[in-house]
Amino acid sequence: MRVLVIGANGDVGKNIVKNIKNTEDHEPVAMVRKEEQLGYFNDLGVETVLADLEGDFEKAFNQIDAVIFAAGSGPDTGPDKTIIIDQEGAIEAADLAVKNGVKHFILLSSMGADQPKGASKGKHYLYAKHRADLYLTSTTLNYTIVRPGALTDEPGNGKVNLQESGTEFGEIPREDVASVLVHLLAKKEAKGKIYELVSGSTKVADIL
Ligand SMILES: NC(=O)c1ccc[n+]([C@@H]2O[C@H](COP(=O)([O-])OP(=O)(O)OC[C@H]3O[C@@H](n4cnc5c(N)ncnc54)[C@H](OP(=O)(O)O)[C@@H]3O)[C@@H](O)[C@H]2O)c1
Repeated sequence: MRVLVIGANGDVGKNIVKNIKNTEDHEPVAMVRKEEQLGYFNDLGVETVLADLEGDFEKAFNQIDAVIFAAGSGPDTGPDKTIIIDQEGAIEAADLAVKNGVKHFILLSSMGADQPKGASKGKHYLYAKHRADLYLTSTTLNYTIVRPGALTDEPGNGKVNLQESGTEFGEIPREDVASVLVHLLAKKEAKGKIYELVSGSTKVADIL
């Protein structure tokens, strides 16, 4: 499958692209928003598309079979950008995926997005993730939503805990999140599912 990675230049996104590149069945298309970000992907031999979630990004969906949305406005921007990128960017991406016949849409969300009202901090962020998740589930897309705990930059150890609910909050390396998202691309059982994800004891290759 040709897999569009939205947020490809991010810390999780770069790992997603590398993992897809290492599969036999899929090829990545890295969506980045700045010219100077293209070189990194060109050096990897990865196809790129220059597009911004705040502009018209439909061209990124040319002949795309699956999408992994790993973009986010990050912690250094105000709530306005969180709404524009994490919420509306994901919603528009879902609409474009429907319009362009995408077969599987994987959304990187966050633990806590199911119950933003009860959050003690980062409420606007969790509401944005919540709205994007909810919208995606209302579309006709085959979706998978993954809600990780706190992301770390520790090297991944390839062992995770992925379950549909009841997960105790915890951490997980970005590398392991990327491995899980790419692993789910091939999993029919993951379609129409929402998962929570933290580090654990199950090898990524053995989940689902
Ligand atoms: N931090 C946590 O503990 C945590 C926990 C759960 C979930 N998450 C979520 O996980 C996701 C990925 O995290 P991360 O650490 O990889 O974040 P990251 O490194 O900040 O990556 C986010 C990517 O989104 C891109 N982006 C932002 N605005 C864009 C726009 N207008 N158009 C196109 N791309 C845009 C950024 O582009 P540039 O490279 O050009 O800036 C960046 O590459 C985020 O959605 C985050 O909310 C984080």
